[in-house]
Amino acid sequence: MNNENSKVGVLIPGMGAVASTFICGVLACNKGLSKPIGSMTQMGSIRLGKRSEKRSPIIKDFAPVADMDNLVFGGWDISNENVYDVSIRSKVLDKTLLDQLKPELEDINVFKAVFDKEYVRRLDGNWIKTGTSKMDLAEQVMNDIKSFNEKNNITSNVMIWCGSTEIYFEPSDVHSSIDKFEEGLRNDSPAISPSMIYAYAAIKLGIPFANGAPNLSADIPALVELAETTKTPIAGKDFKTGQTLMKTILAPGLKARQLGINGWFSTNILGNRDGEVLDDPDAFKTKEESKLGVLDTILEPEKNPDLYSDLYHKVRINYYPPRGDDKEGWDNIDIFGWLGYPMQIKVDFLCRDSILAAPIVLDLVLFLDLAKKSNMFGVQEWLSFYFKSPMTRPNVGPEHDIFVQLAKLKNTLRHIMGEELITHLDQD
Ligand SMILES: NC(=O)c1ccc[n+]([C@@H]2O[C@H](COP(=O)([O-])OP(=O)(O)OC[C@H]3O[C@@H](n4cnc5c(N)ncnc54)[C@H](O)[C@@H]3O)[C@@H](O)[C@H]2O)c1
Repeated sequence: MNNENSKVGVLIPGMGAVASTFICGVLACNKGLSKPIGSMTQMGSIRLGKRSEKRSPIIKDFAPVADMDNLVFGGWDISNENVYDVSIRSKVLDKTLLDQLKPELEDINVFKAVFDKEYVRRLDGNWIKTGTSKMDLAEQVMNDIKSFNEKNNITSNVMIWCGSTEIYFEPSDVHSSIDKFEEGLRNDSPAISPSMIYAYAAIKLGIPFANGAPNLSADIPALVELAETTKTPIAGKDFKTGQTLMKTILAPGLKARQLGINGWFSTNILGNRDGEVLDDPDAFKTKEESKLGVLDTILEPEKNPDLYSDLYHKVRINYYPPRGDDKEGWDNIDIFGWLGYPMQIKVDFLCRDSILAAPIVLDLVLFLDLAKKSNMFGVQEWLSFYFKSPMTRPNVGPEHDIFVQLAKLKNTLRHIMGEELITHLDQD
């Protein structure tokens, strides 16, 4: 695997706050204006071999992931706004930084979107593809990718959905096999959403695909089947930032000490466009499902009925425009200890959504590109670390415990590179 000078085309449906914060961050780091804080590929180390060998390289120096310098960005959105204007409007990064990146940001291709208001009711746009069928729209996306790659001398691609959260719906017959799905594309099945059309276009071309939002997309049997056939790595879904990140850090610790939990109330205020979209009850339902799954899987109440069978878990998101992207999330956790005596934990996390999401996008792009170049395909469970609702192979549940997810990710990297797996027996 030789990654020198090979350009990786990063394809992003949804050039909003997360996408623009990610792109600006990479450009700023490449110019030496800042550091990629929060990115495991750029800053995290990995222990190799026996402790006495003292080998702990930074991941990017160990695994042949692409250089940040070699990433080229393109995407789709529903208005013809350039990425500089999106970044200014999103109010995540300082204007003084953005002004230093302005020419590069204005130069990024933003193609017309595949969009249907039926799936994201709070948005309207005027930069939208028209076509004779959903299949025609998928083919237009594939043509966008081909022309983008030719223009930029791209040697590999990754697509990452950073679009708004689509409404909640359950998988149905049209999602059950690739034949039925393709028939659905030709017949304009209402069960095929825009995010699925982008995912289909990418996977059909063998381009790794990740879903950063909680809506149904590549996590349907039809697209998993296609990913196996075209030997394409896929991953999802819903970037693990903010409150769920805290939950998957705290819950494993409480469980490790066999402390009981009978209530976990999470609420937050958020004022960016994502918050506005989630103000629609059907979009919120998609997010709620994604957030609620986490605790049960970590705590396993069926195995620990005395500690967790009465757990009441509630999640609320409140759209509150004055805060913009600066979210505030409160958790009240009612726990109990020795002989059942109650205690409480309060968490007040003043976080920045897009600042937490951007390094996740970077790592996913680099790791999915690595997976493809390492001949790995289908669902990439080792990337569960980055998601609220990790995709898994059929018949096995997701892993939510962030420390298990981290061990799995690092052991997969060791495996890819032919290094010994670390068991922490440490009998050296
Ligand atoms: N920021 C976080 O911490 C975080 C965490 C988990 C998940 N997410 C998800 O990531 C996504 C992006 O978040 P954001 O804060 O950037 O939101 P945003 O509203 O700023 O950006 C979303 C963009 O997607 C565009 N869009 C919507 N439908 C589209 C389509 N069909 N094709 C192309 N573009 C489309 C919108 O016009 C908008 O510009 C959301 O779904 C959000 O729920 C964000």
